[in-house]
Amino acid sequence: MNVNGVHYRAIWLEGSTVCMIEQNLLPFEFKIYRAETLEDTCMAIKTMITRGAGSIGAAAAYGMYQAICMSDDKHLLDNLADAKKKIDSTRPTAVNLFYATDRVLKGASVSREFAISEAFAVADECAEAGRMIGVHGNTLIKDGFGIETHCNAGWLALVDYGSALAPIYAAQASGKKIFVYADETRPRNQGARLTAWELASAGVDHAIIPDNAGAHYMSLGKIDMVIVGADRIAANGDTANKIGTMEKAIAAKYYGIPFYVAAPLSTIDLGTPDGKHIRIEERDEDEVLKYSGLTQSGNMETFIMANPTSHAKNPAFDVTPAELITGIITEKGIVKPNEIKKLF
Ligand code: MRU
Repeated sequence: MNVNGVHYRAIWLEGSTVCMIEQNLLPFEFKIYRAETLEDTCMAIKTMITRGAGSIGAAAAYGMYQAICMSDDKHLLDNLADAKKKIDSTRPTAVNLFYATDRVLKGASVSREFAISEAFAVADECAEAGRMIGVHGNTLIKDGFGIETHCNAGWLALVDYGSALAPIYAAQASGKKIFVYADETRPRNQGARLTAWELASAGVDHAIIPDNAGAHYMSLGKIDMVIVGADRIAANGDTANKIGTMEKAIAAKYYGIPFYVAAPLSTIDLGTPDGKHIRIEERDEDEVLKYSGLTQSGNMETFIMANPTSHAKNPAFDVTPAELITGIITEKGIVKPNEIKKLF
């Protein structure tokens, strides 16, 4: 997507350096982080310099490429198995990470060249999947629609185009007038910061709403559909996505509003039978107890915003039961949650 007239992906390779848009600084500063080594790439995934299932998958694949570059042929499989362990330990929930490291490791059992082409393919396929999710998802959007989305499943999260935001961009490009309600205003503000920045950059009409305002706008008839992304979709259609997603789905069901999940096939994990088997990342309590932002004098600062003697719990994701999901929008078309096996 374009930033000030220049086309960027969220993550790309220059030689063996993995370049990523530094997402922790957005929307206040647009900066590129350059991961020179596999260790840098792992740190960037862990600290969320890059985040979002597809971009994490691309980072994992490029990290494996960095390990290939450092290895001789004789020890390639062992070295890649080690690299996979390091990468797999960075974040547990988004399956794209494991999909990517598995794919490159399997590629190495064929040849070094094939492993490299697999490492490059992960990001390219994710970008193309986002484009097609846009094409399919746009068929669901009518002129004048109000659409709610939660967290950031835009191009920053999926290399290019996005998943939840791809249909929105496609609708806008096809001349439909839409209005987006963007949330995830806590704990990390990914809707308020990243989705709002993406939508503003693309000229899409939108408002940031507090996480607890979704049901209110649904009750007023302002929301015609909800589209969210996914970090892992289990074989039965249960879907892990940013904490707070399940509440939107429950409210949407109550008000009879279609609730769609948009995701590439690489986010569907047929090896996980249902949502109970998805590991939910527990993140640092400081994300709840503190708040980071720009002061009026333009400095990034962190503030304590809770009772200093209290602790917090901070699950990063929740699992929306398949029965609350109207459909899953993929690059191969839109299916009911109980039909995802047909896509493979
Ligand atoms: O806080 P984050 O950025 O780790 O949140 C995770 C996600 O990126 C979201 O759950 C997103 O909606 C799905 S990833 C395309």
